[in-house]
Amino acid sequence: MGTAAQAVAYERKGDIAVLKAQNPPVNALGQAVRQGLIEGIAKAEDEGAKAVLIYGDGTTYFAGADIREFGKPPLEPYLPDVCNRIEASPLIVVSAMHGTALGGGLEIALSTHYRIAVPKARMGLPEVHLGLIPGAAGTQRLPRLIGVEKALDIMTTGRQIGAEEALSLGVIDRVTEGTPEEIGLAYAEELIASNAPRRPVSEMPAPEPIDWDATYEAVLKRGRGQISPAMCVRAVQGACELPFDEGVANERRIFRELMETDQRQGMIHAFFAERAVGKLPELKGVEPRPLAAIAVIGGGTMGSGIATSALMAGLSVTMLEMSPEAAAKAKDRIAGNLSGALKRGKIDQAGFDRLTEQALTLTTSYDDLGQADLVIEAVYEEMEVKKEVFRKLDAVAMPGAVLATNTSYLDVNEIAAVTARPEDVLGLHFFSPAHVMKLLEIVVADRTAPEVLATGFALGKRMGKVSVRAGVCDGFIGNRILSHYRSAADHMILDGASPYQIDAALEAFGFAMGPYAVADLAGLDIGWAVRKRRRAEGLDPRARDSTYADRLCEAGHFGQKTGKGYYDYAAGAKARVPNPEVEPLIEADRAAQGITPRAFTDDEIVRRYMAAMVNEAARVVGEGIARRPLDVDVTLLYGYGFPRYRGGPLKWADMEGLPGLLEDIRGYARQDDYFWQPAPLLEKLVAEGKTFEDLNKEAAG
Ligand code: COA
Repeated sequence: MGTAAQAVAYERKGDIAVLKAQNPPVNALGQAVRQGLIEGIAKAEDEGAKAVLIYGDGTTYFAGADIREFGKPPLEPYLPDVCNRIEASPLIVVSAMHGTALGGGLEIALSTHYRIAVPKARMGLPEVHLGLIPGAAGTQRLPRLIGVEKALDIMTTGRQIGAEEALSLGVIDRVTEGTPEEIGLAYAEELIASNAPRRPVSEMPAPEPIDWDATYEAVLKRGRGQISPAMCVRAVQGACELPFDEGVANERRIFRELMETDQRQGMIHAFFAERAVGKLPELKGVEPRPLAAIAVIGGGTMGSGIATSALMAGLSVTMLEMSPEAAAKAKDRIAGNLSGALKRGKIDQAGFDRLTEQALTLTTSYDDLGQADLVIEAVYEEMEVKKEVFRKLDAVAMPGAVLATNTSYLDVNEIAAVTARPEDVLGLHFFSPAHVMKLLEIVVADRTAPEVLATGFALGKRMGKVSVRAGVCDGFIGNRILSHYRSAADHMILDGASPYQIDAALEAFGFAMGPYAVADLAGLDIGWAVRKRRRAEGLDPRARDSTYADRLCEAGHFGQKTGKGYYDYAAGAKARVPNPEVEPLIEADRAAQGITPRAFTDDEIVRRYMAAMVNEAARVVGEGIARRPLDVDVTLLYGYGFPRYRGGPLKWADMEGLPGLLEDIRGYARQDDYFWQPAPLLEKLVAEGKTFEDLNKEAAG
């Protein structure tokens, strides 16, 4: 960013001083912008302008404070002072908003006297997603403007609202089509002509109070351990109970405290990590291949979810199934998914009709796949079946088509090798339900061409996914690590913990669901198949194994889909209760293995589980399966319910301290030195006094 005058251009249009922010790409409120705003207001006053118009150049009004400055010593002028300076101006100050007015951006708008926006503008206070609260009097001004409850809804969820909703809530005064400059100037002229008064929100009466403690507790509970949404409640309480200036000071104190937390660090890490995953050196300057029509082979839950996601992204989809009956079922599944989108208002009826009738074609013939730019296979997870599909695909796909497998652990090199074009083959590992889950692992085989990888990322972007590059290994990044930490949990069960204690301890840590509740949701047959395969391949004699879960499956209990698994779902998925058949099976397994059970504390459960996760993640990074630690973090955040406020397992490990974790692992190895072999990368980092974040930085260059 350049000087203040460059960051905020000043221009007079008659009586109106126009301040145009110029800080691409999102007009973040960095130091020069803040300085530029103060100087612009002062100049307008000195020159005797009657009104000031503030808007953003390019695609957006201010999208927020400059997140890159967070955690560093703050630079003057501070944002709250800039807001106060704007509001205190004797001139009429108008904001014209387009794009996304977020966080500090909306706080600037709230300190101007009038707000107008284009219909497509969006706004919000997303600070909670960064582990913070609004810190430039947003918690004081917004409730004065729209009342406590509506303001708290916006702040505690961090959700974005559209211009129409903002208008009806009273956040803004007017919505008009046009460029921000046009609509802002017209509005300011009108305000001058009608002698409109200044309208400082801080001078509005304090809002009506609510039951603060009850609301605080409810918000805390909803956040599953995340503190910042609940602290919004305390800041807004200050707006009701304290004079404006003291309320601002109270907000500032809370903001500063949160700035020092691990949660803030974790969430800001997540923010930048999810933007860094797609930045790969091999993709620099590489153009993706064209993508308009795709084909999906296999219309089960996964294939239908992928097709739904592609249709929603505006692609045309040909779905191949084995028989007309199976094709009809696939169509029903897709239509079912799309009707969910219709209900939630994501598409309208005309869109629904177009997607199901025109954009989607069902077929039972491979010959109909010849026009597809990209084909994704989502058939049964069996190597021979996949190879057969790829042989057929190789015969019919047009030259240059990208051929993708949705396998979740099979060797993509082996699949690619049955085609005459292995450079066109890659893995696209979606997570179920594929039209909902945001994670996409893009698996690069030995011979995958860079533009094929780029096309995978382009597809992910169009579908609104967070795409992570992964190398080939059993389970890629996510499932490989999952398999390891799940084993650590299984070992704890053998040694005396219950699945329910483990789930509860990990849910208290912040996971959306504990591992056994997840297993029930995914289907216990999946793990059963993996165990059978691994046993058939030959387990290392030192590896611990357990059979209680096999007994559950043999009895027909596959989890939620059969009504019973680790839990009993008779009263519904949310009202899960432990299945009483499970404990005796575990006890029998322990007895057969001669294990005397012992008690585990919740802390020990979390510690062992996380140590296993971090250790395997370190191997995954060390072997180059994941390029950087942040790729692991994003995978676990988006595919495995890892609590975002902890940043991801490797960010968590950094904050926890790698030497202590390594020491724990060495301690566990005294009981089981096969499972608990320290990852060489972890040992190296500890020896060199480095962190995973250092590796992220080295990779960024
Ligand atoms: N401060 C610093 N950099 C920011 C930023 C901010 N507030 N918001 C976005 N950026 C950067 C991104 O890191 C990205 O940089 P890169 O190109 O080097 O990766 C670039 O701006 C574009 O952002 P991106 O998210 O890729 O674009 P988008 O068009 O999908 O989304 C936003 C734009 C503004 C909606 C989104 O970036 C966002 O939500 N930003 C955070 C807003 C926020 O939380 N503000 C409150 C802070 S008080």
